Amino acid sequence: MCYIRRIIHSPPSTDMKAIRYHGTYRKTDSRAELKTSHGKPVACIIGAGSIGQLTAELLRRRGLFKTCFIDTRIKKPKRVACTCSSINGRSSYRCAKGVYPESFVRYADLLIITVKAFSVAKIIRDIAPHLKHDTPVVLMVNGFGAQEELKKLTHENRLYLASTSNGATHKKYSVVEKGLGTTYIGPLKHAKEISVIKYFTKSMPSGTYTASIYDELLRKLAVNAVINPVTAIRNCVNAEILNDPDIIREIITEISPILRHLGLNDSPDSLMHRVETVAANTGANYSSMQQDYYYGRLSEIDYILGILIKKARIYGIKTPCIDKLYQQLKNM
Ligand code: PAF
Repeated sequence: MCYIRRIIHSPPSTDMKAIRYHGTYRKTDSRAELKTSHGKPVACIIGAGSIGQLTAELLRRRGLFKTCFIDTRIKKPKRVACTCSSINGRSSYRCAKGVYPESFVRYADLLIITVKAFSVAKIIRDIAPHLKHDTPVVLMVNGFGAQEELKKLTHENRLYLASTSNGATHKKYSVVEKGLGTTYIGPLKHAKEISVIKYFTKSMPSGTYTASIYDELLRKLAVNAVINPVTAIRNCVNAEILNDPDIIREIITEISPILRHLGLNDSPDSLMHRVETVAANTGANYSSMQQDYYYGRLSEIDYILGILIKKARIYGIKTPCIDKLYQQLKNM
């Protein structure tokens, strides 16, 4: 059964400012941290959850970007102490990072959005007035549906989607890497593979640029449709679902025809294999949905099972198994 606990974050406040100045960031206060004196592009991440923090750490490791977080809820910049523990527990990296209000997105050379699917619409509304028309934006969220929101940004030749099977957990600004999979990135519409996008792809372990990112999003939707609801209901780590191949097969059998209608022609066997591979690679991880239910937070169920059920009704496909899982989660 799900044990619900709420965590209240109380961040420190500072009045640090950083101003872009002839291509660099000039300090306006001795604590100013973001300055591109080494000529590195600035990657701003919106969404300091598990995937956002892990992405910041992976970018730091590769060293091609200067990174910071954007938090649309704050009015003044602040500086936070971040920790990332590696997958084998052998190393732990600490650093201080800047967290800036939304107006700071105008200084981004690359903007990466890793918020929950249900927050994307609001985030896009908040940042749109501040974003330069040529800033590349990468949206990396679970589920299906939120990608449509990105189209509201006017600069369509700079919009990208990404899908990752990396796993992590976090508490405040402390993230634990739980498994590194593949990260796919590709254009939402007509965007080209420009150099910051190449740097981003290079920085992700097994990063792969693809022109058919929608196929990858649908494959990831299949993975999330199995791992996330089952681990949330059973309150278990990802690896535990491998002990129940019947539930994996039942869900995959039901969602394969829906995914086919959406344009993905993968066989049920290959989707099953994918689910099992991700569950094994992120075995020690609690899925994002398990964590959302555990901590009493809003979950992405409507962007995962909800969207599949909606599409199934349109295509006249019956889905008794995922209907039941959806109802169970809605009642939890
Ligand atoms: O949502 C999640 O937790 C992740 O997408 C994944 C890949 C299932 C790993 O836990």
